[in-house]
Amino acid sequence: MCGIIGCTGRCEAAEVLTKGLRRLEYRGYDSAGVAVVDGDSMAIVKRAGRVDSIEPYVRALRGSTGIAHTRWATHGKVTDENAHPHASCDGRIAVVHNGIIENYRELREELEARGHRFRSDTDSEVIAHMLEDALRSFEDPLQALLAVCRELRGSYAFLAAGPALGDALLAARKDSPLVVGLAKGAVYASSDVYAFIEWTDDAYFLENGSVAVLRPGEVRAALLDGTPLEVRPVKVAFEMSEPDAGAYAHHTFREIMEQPEVVARALAPRPEVDEAARAISEASQVFAVGAGTSYHAALVARYVFADVAGLDVQPVLASEHGLFLRWMGPGSVVLAISQSGETADVLEAVRAAKSRGARIISVVNVPHSSLEREGDLSVNVRAGPEVGVAATKSFTAQLATLSMIALRMAGRPLPDPERARRLVSEALRLEPAARELGNRLKGSDDLYLVGRGVHYPLALEGALKVKELAYVHAEGLAAGELKHGTLAMIEDGTPVVLINPGDDTHSDTASNGEEMKARGAFIIGISDVESDLYDVHLRIPEARGVELPIVEAIPLQLLAYHLALARGAEIDRPRNLAKSVTVK
Ligand code: M6R
Repeated sequence: MCGIIGCTGRCEAAEVLTKGLRRLEYRGYDSAGVAVVDGDSMAIVKRAGRVDSIEPYVRALRGSTGIAHTRWATHGKVTDENAHPHASCDGRIAVVHNGIIENYRELREELEARGHRFRSDTDSEVIAHMLEDALRSFEDPLQALLAVCRELRGSYAFLAAGPALGDALLAARKDSPLVVGLAKGAVYASSDVYAFIEWTDDAYFLENGSVAVLRPGEVRAALLDGTPLEVRPVKVAFEMSEPDAGAYAHHTFREIMEQPEVVARALAPRPEVDEAARAISEASQVFAVGAGTSYHAALVARYVFADVAGLDVQPVLASEHGLFLRWMGPGSVVLAISQSGETADVLEAVRAAKSRGARIISVVNVPHSSLEREGDLSVNVRAGPEVGVAATKSFTAQLATLSMIALRMAGRPLPDPERARRLVSEALRLEPAARELGNRLKGSDDLYLVGRGVHYPLALEGALKVKELAYVHAEGLAAGELKHGTLAMIEDGTPVVLINPGDDTHSDTASNGEEMKARGAFIIGISDVESDLYDVHLRIPEARGVELPIVEAIPLQLLAYHLALARGAEIDRPRNLAKSVTVK
């Protein structure tokens, strides 16, 4: 995964790079590092840990050309040596890389045989050594860069800087995002517009499979076969998120609490929703692709489209799309659901489906993301920037947006955004009850979450939230499946969250709850209906139809948050994870 940023020209590199890194930490936060060039010298500061750990040292660096990196480890442990940037043997080139160089072992062996000495276990370091050699062989840095890229297999977005390049930066991308920002007298490059939006809103999205030499006021770009590219920047608009969590203890909590507004905004009618509904009604087959929480939104969409529009939507786990490709041809539509719009598995599925003739409708949150740009049509879910690694408000915004598309398709009235705002606000009043429950359950090793019909994907989503936020083993189950095995796990005091609203699933799910209670389960009911089945009742407001899954998500998120808090887990950046998963 990882995030990269670079700048050169009329700018203070230390300031641009530290600010940029903070904005890129959602892509990984195992380690951070910076290289700043000052005339003929280059200073590298890097360390395992967060950006905070290097910031005081970086602030002291002088220079206007530099690159920086925030890491999510793929090759090599989380150590200072494996943190980027990686320097060439002569120390005149440094590289930051996002992606995976698949043939790095062969390349490393060849380089070592030629006398290069490696300091890290990463795949990325080969690029620095290869550039060192190539810059000796080619006078034109663009040709050197092309020669290196032609040797690389895998995915990459990388930036290089160093005394060997003067005030130039080298940039290359294949299957990982990289965008250039152009300003008067300065140029920026990053994995994400968001990292440099404070300095410029003129962005040039590097084409997939291309390279560029960036100098203040000049960008030369070419495809990997050497064909020159015309550099055409576009204006980007980007909402800046609060740098801190405001009055809240965590971004995740703030994002949970923002949902009345988010859901109301996502439910506002817009032309893209109508266009998507039209495209889907003309399709021979419809797929909904996503990963993690976005896949759970796809599962909810299956029930919602079936229910309101009588349409069969096939949910597809992005990483398992291979099986479905044979049906993703001309006439079919792929709804590609993603908060970040950068998830590698989703992008891979979309590219494969598109090449076979499927029409892609992206349902994304991050504007200007790869998915938004690559889709034939894009519907933004309007959740606003989501900083916490756990997807919360983006999930309810996805549910709202997908429901609107389904209702439009069926020609049925859309939900009232004001009513939805009120329902979500009411559900948020369960916060003190969720806090109490979090404290009560903090010693539990396992938690089961159970639902039927459209509430089953909510059980899966609740379990994912509990695992990633609280590090408690949690399992989401279809209520009817319990008796086929998992019931054996239920014993005295086993906590079970029963998603049991008063719709047509109510009595069957309640019976399954009774079966668990008879075996000692501690039942936490999420329902708008009173019942003595529940040992603890998280009473949600009475919602109907497509509103229900949105409202149910709230107590599940609050419970996961408070369980994490009670257990002292790191909330906004859970261990081993990253917000945007840009590797396969
Ligand atoms: O950005 P995306 O929606 O494509 O991300 C997909 C998953 O990586 C993401 O939902 C992940 O599962 C979240 N951490 C869940 O909270």
